[in-house]
Amino acid sequence: MNPLSTLQQSLIAKLADAVPASILLTGTEELERYSCDISGIRHARPLLVARPGSTGELSRLMGSCHRHDIQVVPQGGLTGLVGAAVASHPAGEIVVSLERMDRVRSVDAIDYAMVVEAGCVLERAKAAADAAGCLLPITLGSQGSCRIGGNIATNAGGFNVLRYGMTRDLVLGLEAVLPDGRVWDGLRVLRKDNRGYDLKQLFIGSEGTLGIVTAAALKVFPRPDQVETAFLALGSIEAALELYSRARRECSDLISAFELILRPGLEVALNSRADLRDPLGDRHPVYVLAELSAAGRIDLRGLLEGFLADAGDIVQDGVIASSRAQAERLWLLREVMVDRQGRGGPYLRSDVSVPISRLAAFVADALSALALSHPDATPITYGHVGDGNLHLNVIPPQGMNPNEMAQMIHEAEEVLFEVLDRHGGSISAEHGIGTVKQQAYLSRVDPVTLELSRRIKDAFDPRHLLSDGRIFNR
Ligand code: LAC
Ligand code: ZN
Repeated sequence: MNPLSTLQQSLIAKLADAVPASILLTGTEELERYSCDISGIRHARPLLVARPGSTGELSRLMGSCHRHDIQVVPQGGLTGLVGAAVASHPAGEIVVSLERMDRVRSVDAIDYAMVVEAGCVLERAKAAADAAGCLLPITLGSQGSCRIGGNIATNAGGFNVLRYGMTRDLVLGLEAVLPDGRVWDGLRVLRKDNRGYDLKQLFIGSEGTLGIVTAAALKVFPRPDQVETAFLALGSIEAALELYSRARRECSDLISAFELILRPGLEVALNSRADLRDPLGDRHPVYVLAELSAAGRIDLRGLLEGFLADAGDIVQDGVIASSRAQAERLWLLREVMVDRQGRGGPYLRSDVSVPISRLAAFVADALSALALSHPDATPITYGHVGDGNLHLNVIPPQGMNPNEMAQMIHEAEEVLFEVLDRHGGSISAEHGIGTVKQQAYLSRVDPVTLELSRRIKDAFDPRHLLSDGRIFNR
C-alpha cells in the first residue's frame, strides 16, 4: 500500500464529511485501473476514485466537491475512444465511477420500457430485457463492458441504429446529479411529454460535461423471435447502397443491421486467426453483413431468400447463416477485424459520417487522397451503411518509429477530414469529441454553436468542475 500524498489526504479529509471513506479508492494499482480507456491513449492517473452506491451518496459527494472546488470526471465502463472519461485535467481530477450503481430496476412489457441504473453493464441490461420478452436494441462491440450511463453520455450508436436510432432515440427519461450536487429528476416512462424544454436531451451526448446520469428509463421493443444473418459480396460500394435501398423497401423495413466491410478489413480478420475462414470462395471488393429481424407472424427466411433471389444483378455471392452459431461466426469476422486492425499498435481510428447517398463518392475520394499522401499506409474501411457512418482507419506501415507514426496519423487525419469537409460530413458520428478530437472539432464548429454550447455549460456547471476541458475549453 503506497502512502497517501498530502493532496490525497486533504481530499479525503474534505470528502469524508459527506461520504464514507470506504467508497474512496487511493491505492496506486487501483487508480491505474481507472486511468485508461480503450483508445489506448495514456491519460493522467486520478487523484482518487469515488464509487458511490446510490444517487443520494453521489449527490452528497458532488455537493462536497462543489464546496471544495474539486475537479470531477464521471466514468462508466472505460470503453470510450476519445478520452472523455479518464482523468486529464492539469489541476488533477477525481474519477467518479458509477460501477456500484448497477441495478436493473424494472422492465415492463406494457410500457415497453425499462429503468436501469447508470452503472449497469449494457449486456446485463439487454439480458434483463430479453428475459422479459423484450429487446433493448443498443448493440455494440463493447457491450460486455460498457455501461448504460456511458452509452447515454456518449449517445452511443452501434449496429442497430438504422432500425432503432441512436441511444438518444431510446431514452424516455433520466435522473442526473448536477455539478453542485442537486438531483435532477426526469426519470419517467412517458411516451409523450411536451412540458417545456426537454432537458434530458442536453445530458445525452454531453460526454459527462453537464451532469452525471444516475439512472435511465429506456424504450424496449418486442423481442424478435426470428433473426436472419447474411454475408454478401458486391462489386462496389455503389452496389451496396443500391442493395440497402432496395432491401429497406422490399424487406418491409425489417433490416436491423447493414454493415459494410471492404476486402482489406476482411483480410485483417482472416490473417489474424487461423480458425477463421472466408465464408465465400472468391475474393470480392465489398462485403455486407446484413441482419433482418422480426417478431410475430412473418416468414422472415422466405422474405430474405426471395429478396436475394431477385438481387442477383448486384449481389455477386453470399451466404445466409443456417444457425445462430453460424451467424455468430459471421459477426466474429467483424469483431476480430476491429480488434486486430492496428496489430496492437497506434493507428488512425476515424468515425465519420456523410449523407448515405454520398458514401461511395466520399470513400473513393478519401482512398485516392490517402493513396497519394500515404502510399505506404493501409486503409481499413468498414462502417454502418444505414447510418452513413464509416470507420475509415489508416494503419501505419510496419516498422515505423513512434514519432513518425504519430506524425503520419495526424497527417492522414487531416487528409481524410479535408475530403470529409468537401462532402459536408461530420468528424465524429458516434464516438464523440472528448479530448482527442477537440482540435478538429473546434477548428470546424461555427461560432454561434460554440457560443450557445458555452452558455449551456455555464448554466449547468458555472464553476467548470465537471469534465472540464472535454468537447471545448472554457
Ligand atoms: C465499431 C465501433 C468501434 O463500429 O464504432 O466497431
Ligand atoms: Zn461504429
